[in-house]
Amino acid sequence: MKPIQVGLLGIGTVGSGTFKVLQRNQQEIRRRAGRGIEIAVVADLDVARARSIVGDSVRVVDDARQVIADPAIDIVIELIGGYGIARTLVLEAIAAGKHVVTANKALLAVHGNEIFAAAHAKGVIVAFEAAVAGGIPIIKALREGLTANRIEWVAGIINGTTNFILSEMRDKGLDFQTVLKEAQRLGYAETDPTFDIEGIDAAHKATIMCAIAFGVPMQFDRAHVEGITALQAADIRYAEQLGYRIKLLGITKRTPQGIELRVHPTLIPAKRLIANVEGAMNAVVVQGDAVGTTLYYGKGAGSEPTASAVVADLVDITRLHTADPDHRVPHLAFQPDALDNTPILPVAQVVTSFYLRLQVADQTGVLSRITTILAEHDISIDAVLQRESAEGERQTDLIILTHDTPEGRMSQALARMQALPTVLQPIVRIRKEELN
Ligand code: HSE
Repeated sequence: MKPIQVGLLGIGTVGSGTFKVLQRNQQEIRRRAGRGIEIAVVADLDVARARSIVGDSVRVVDDARQVIADPAIDIVIELIGGYGIARTLVLEAIAAGKHVVTANKALLAVHGNEIFAAAHAKGVIVAFEAAVAGGIPIIKALREGLTANRIEWVAGIINGTTNFILSEMRDKGLDFQTVLKEAQRLGYAETDPTFDIEGIDAAHKATIMCAIAFGVPMQFDRAHVEGITALQAADIRYAEQLGYRIKLLGITKRTPQGIELRVHPTLIPAKRLIANVEGAMNAVVVQGDAVGTTLYYGKGAGSEPTASAVVADLVDITRLHTADPDHRVPHLAFQPDALDNTPILPVAQVVTSFYLRLQVADQTGVLSRITTILAEHDISIDAVLQRESAEGERQTDLIILTHDTPEGRMSQALARMQALPTVLQPIVRIRKEELN
């Protein structure tokens, strides 16, 4: 049978990896898919560079719409990124009856509901394994492998750039800005690192996992997002002394009140496997009621790791595109008419434990005033650590770990503590998750 025909929009890092993996493993891929998979045309504004990657046997054009309009093309791979032209092209490809593979987490988190509705109406597949955690098959795991389970929560290190920065801060005791510059020099962080360091990229991925874990629409605008820019080396050090590591986690959790969807720096026990995921690696923990805890680990970015996920989607589509659309795996794991509207909870209603660091005057009664405020808000203390003051020093750091409490209640207590004249600097508050 003639190989299935693929058009590639954008041949950068992931696109060139996809081309190489398809070429190198074409025999194995054909044996698995039952049919060859061939990139027949590439669209890229830099035609010369595209040509240098794919050689003369593949057609190269500078206009993506030529690919979409080509009746010979069965699958369009969108690797342009962003939610501008990428959205238009994906919707046009769907309207033209093409199946789509995309690595574009931003596009799906923000416009996924529109895109999946259009794909469902047209009977085409939009596959997106590469959009979350690069080469880790977490979409496949959540959507198919764990389909027997009522998923309880998902927590992941889903941004390699920030995990690299946090690992370096911990290993070398350096501050955020110094490590960020180093990460940029080494190519781990982009020139404009905003999406990574502010947690937005992780929130896009958490939004997608939330939708397929719980069968709700994409709701990126309801996600609580905090990045790592305010994180200080001192807190990484104190957390370590208390047996914790600080990681940027994307968390989505089912609770009786609603669904939590949040990205923020998080203390996790150092003994958890995920706490030991270092450098630019990614890992996702999924808790299901039947299976218990499962952990997925691997490269979350990079040319061939991400291509691994793109090609897996191409194989899936090659196997399934002739199947009745109603009998395919639903885009968001649940049947489109079975998605529900369980609310995403405002962060004030999220229940976690907390790490607090207060820089205080080293005077009699300071600790007691602070613990009184916590007690008055019904917030229970788990552990207290006080830095030993140097000779003659008149201030110290007070570290408090709390038990679980609603965030809104903690915010009220923090406001009162902050107003004490003996609290000398803004209080540091970092959420803590035991992940057990
Ligand atoms: N910039 C992302 C990261 C990879 O650092 O993990 C693509 O989502």
